Amino acid sequence: MQVRQWVDGRADDDVAWQDRGLLFGDGVFETMRVQDAGLPMWAWHRDRLLQAIDRLRLDVSMAHIEDHLAGHLAQLDSGVLRLTLTRGQGGTYRPLAGSAVRLISHWRPLPPVVEELRATLLQQRLGHLPMLAGLKHLNRLEQVLLQAELDGHPSCDEALVQDIAGHVIEGVASNVFMVHRYVLHTPIIDECGVAGVMRAWVLERCRKVRIPTRICVLDVSDFLAADEVFFCNAVRGIMPVHDLLGRSMSTGVITSKLQMELTQVLRHV
Ligand SMILES: Cc1ncc(COP(=O)(O)O)c(C=O)c1O
Repeated sequence: MQVRQWVDGRADDDVAWQDRGLLFGDGVFETMRVQDAGLPMWAWHRDRLLQAIDRLRLDVSMAHIEDHLAGHLAQLDSGVLRLTLTRGQGGTYRPLAGSAVRLISHWRPLPPVVEELRATLLQQRLGHLPMLAGLKHLNRLEQVLLQAELDGHPSCDEALVQDIAGHVIEGVASNVFMVHRYVLHTPIIDECGVAGVMRAWVLERCRKVRIPTRICVLDVSDFLAADEVFFCNAVRGIMPVHDLLGRSMSTGVITSKLQMELTQVLRHV
């Protein structure tokens, strides 16, 4: 059988119960698209990992992470690779001295492409947690509860998620953008939310091709008045919304342009 998981370089799926990821959610992860035995968005994942390593003071080098990935990337078919870093094993809230960061990878196939995305609005709201805002840390209980709420809307694939102040922050498992009068807008994520790799790519791409962007406070009414809305993440790419809370929308020019540019990047791995 093809190996699909590695722990610290070993083809293995055993992680001790004392792992700090399990005990305290003490770690971060990246969910990456694999294509032609490469990671087309690696530069952006790498940037976010470096920020996480710095903010969480994880004792691991990027060279070690890249060696770990190189050890199995060549064997992988196109799909999704989740890389989890935990602060090793044991200790209390205070880690044990000398406990090495653990690297866990797991491969799975790509999810099906969603052509016509319908989105709703969820009632549960994200709390403010500025210490961790932006990071893709292992504490994902809010998303587990949000996904359960979204599953109660079987015709919808994503949803606008607000924070406790009532501002839109992101989707359940994605970031969100809207276009108003040819300006691309996306919410600020200083208090909560994930600084998505695809969000970073979209903002960088817009700077290069001179599409004006604004990172600002956005409410549900802004999205309902928008010309275009899309969700995005590193696995599914850019997902144009065709129905937002019962309002039908079509894929606009800016969304289509970004989708085309992304296809080029994914083709040139
Ligand atoms: C809560 C949340 N926000 C945003 C994102 C988008 O992040 P990325 O573009 O790095 O996949 C994800 C991805 O899973 C997510 O779970």
